[in-house]
Amino acid sequence: MKKLILPETLSNETITLKRHNHLYDEQLFKYIDANRAHLHPWLFWVDGTKTIENTSKTTDFFIEQWQAGNNFAYVLLDNHNDVLGTIDFHDINNEDRCGAIGYWLRKDKTGHGYVSSALKLLENEIFKQDFVRITITCDSLNTASSAVAVRNQYDYEGCNKKALNAYGELHDRLLYAKINPNHK
Ligand SMILES: CC(C)(COP(=O)(O)OP(=O)(O)OC[C@H]1O[C@@H](n2cnc3c(N)ncnc32)[C@H](O)[C@@H]1OP(=O)(O)O)[C@@H](O)C(=O)NCCC(=O)NCCS
Repeated sequence: MKKLILPETLSNETITLKRHNHLYDEQLFKYIDANRAHLHPWLFWVDGTKTIENTSKTTDFFIEQWQAGNNFAYVLLDNHNDVLGTIDFHDINNEDRCGAIGYWLRKDKTGHGYVSSALKLLENEIFKQDFVRITITCDSLNTASSAVAVRNQYDYEGCNKKALNAYGELHDRLLYAKINPNHK
C-alpha cells in the first residue's frame, strides 16, 4: 500500500494551492471573520474561530495532519497571493484508495469558478497516485456546494437522511463521488 503524499504547491494560470501554513493565518482569520454569515450554515467550526489564535491553532493542527498523511489542507490563493478560501483532502484511506474533498470561498470570490479550478488541480494529483474514489458531501440545503459537485462531474450517489447535525437540527446529507477514469 503506497501512502498518499501530495505536493505542497499546486497551481495553474489563475490560482495557487499552498500547503496550509502560518504565513496565511492573518488573511484567513480576516476573511473568516468577514464571511461568518456566508460560512456559518455549512461549516460548523466557524463559530469556534473567534480570534487569530484560534486560526493559528487550526494551522498547527493541519501541519500535524499533513505530516501524518491524514489530511492535506491547502490555502487557495489568487495571482496576488490573496487568500480566496481553502480546499482539503481528508478521510483518507490509503488501502481502499479513497478520501473526501472539502472547500470554502470568500463570498466576494464566488461565481468565478475558483473552487472548481482548485478541485481539478487536486483531484488530478490524487488520481495520479492511483486513488480510485473521491467524495464530496454536503447539506441538502447547500445548493452552491452540490452545484460544485455536479459542475465537476461528480456522480450523485444518494441522500443520507437526517445524517447531518446542523446546530441541533438534523438535515439530509447528499453524497457525490468521482471514480478515477484510469481505474480498471
Ligand atoms: C460552495 C462554494 C465554494 C461554491 O463557490 P462557487 O464560486 O459557486 O463555485 P465554483 O468555483 O464551482 O464556481 C462556479 C460559479 O462560477 C461561475 N464560473 C465563472 N467562470 C467559471 C469557470 N471557468 N469554471 C466554472 N465556473 C465558472 C459559474 O457560472 C458559477 O457561477 P453561478 O453559481 O453564478 O452560476 C461557495 O458557495 C462557498 O464557499 N459556500 C460556503 C461554504 C460551503 O458551503 N462550503 C462547502 C461545504 S460542503
